[in-house]
Amino acid sequence: MLNTKMLKLAAADDNLDSLTEAAKLLQSGELVAFPTETVYGLGAVYNSDQALAKVFQVKGRPADNPLILHIWSYQQLDLIVKEVSPKYERLMKEFWPGPLTLIFPKKEAVSYLATAGLDTVAVRMPSHPIARQLLEITDIPIAAPSANLSGRPSPTKGEHVFEDLNGKIPLIIDGGACEAGLESTVLTIYSEHPVILRPGSITKEMIEATLQEVVQLAMPDQADKPQAPGMKYRHYAPKAAVTLVEGENTKVVAKINQLLAELDNVKRVFVLGTAENEAKYHCTNFLNLGSQAKPGEVAARLYDLLRRCDQLNAELVLIEGVSAKGIGVAIENRLRKASGGNIINVS
Ligand code: TXA
Ligand code: MG
Repeated sequence: MLNTKMLKLAAADDNLDSLTEAAKLLQSGELVAFPTETVYGLGAVYNSDQALAKVFQVKGRPADNPLILHIWSYQQLDLIVKEVSPKYERLMKEFWPGPLTLIFPKKEAVSYLATAGLDTVAVRMPSHPIARQLLEITDIPIAAPSANLSGRPSPTKGEHVFEDLNGKIPLIIDGGACEAGLESTVLTIYSEHPVILRPGSITKEMIEATLQEVVQLAMPDQADKPQAPGMKYRHYAPKAAVTLVEGENTKVVAKINQLLAELDNVKRVFVLGTAENEAKYHCTNFLNLGSQAKPGEVAARLYDLLRRCDQLNAELVLIEGVSAKGIGVAIENRLRKASGGNIINVS
């Protein structure tokens, strides 16, 4: 067991000095968890196979699930990618730094451990000031998956990382709650059309507006060989069983109430729903996802509430589906994963 230190920092401060120790740990091949604008990352320098192997081991992550490399400058991009297509240049200009991960042909310097044997590498330039300062002073691109144990909801607060990784890593940089709350959008252009491999807060519509062409959304659950290998695992799930109810709002509420009535003997049933519906449920264990009018807030709260279900020893969680528009596409994607396919459609 390691003694895991929590370093609390405010994103608004100049933290370069406070981050010296974190940078030294990373440079010596240790793992450090840090905040980004999406979720917390579990960082390791990209050029140490021993550090990369530790990432997989600490998370319990399958070796065939590749990592995203994080950079803070375009010089760092040159170290790791073979070529930058003009389409990517337009996207980087528009969305970097920010929650968009792009898939590039990799340079030799990038280990197959990081890419899980692929000749492509996923790269993103985060916008979170602490992540950027950490990358700057470490001065080596950092491979970072979400800083959760594999299969658990991604961490959106320092304490979530502590829950999962206490005793396993030397340092967690706690920068408070993450703004987006869902992992970055992952995009590739190396197919007939650009394809979103994982939806996020940079939406299909935003990417289409920049590229002026049709962008497709991968259907990870239908493909035999998902292109973002990480999408095939049951993910983002609390320990409790989850049932997702999708469809028109009044029917969803009625269905959840019907399930609640049928489940009279299950003590610890929780409803995860929107503020507009709270008063309509015949249930005492209601967790508020936020307003339907503010899907960005729903995204930011979702993982925290899934973890709360575990803390409250939920046996079963009934979740309201969301409208799959804009960022709702990403929320729907994570809810479906959390449900493990346990979905009732009432539309
Ligand atoms: O917002 C995020 O992206 C966070 C923060 C920490 O940056 N990171 C994150 O990493 O979500 P992770 O490891 O949990 O998810 C990485 C996703 C997986 O679905 C993986 O399969 C996909 O990116 N991926 C990585 N490299 C890839 C590649 N070369 N080709 C296709 N998909 C790739
Ligand atoms: Mg993850």
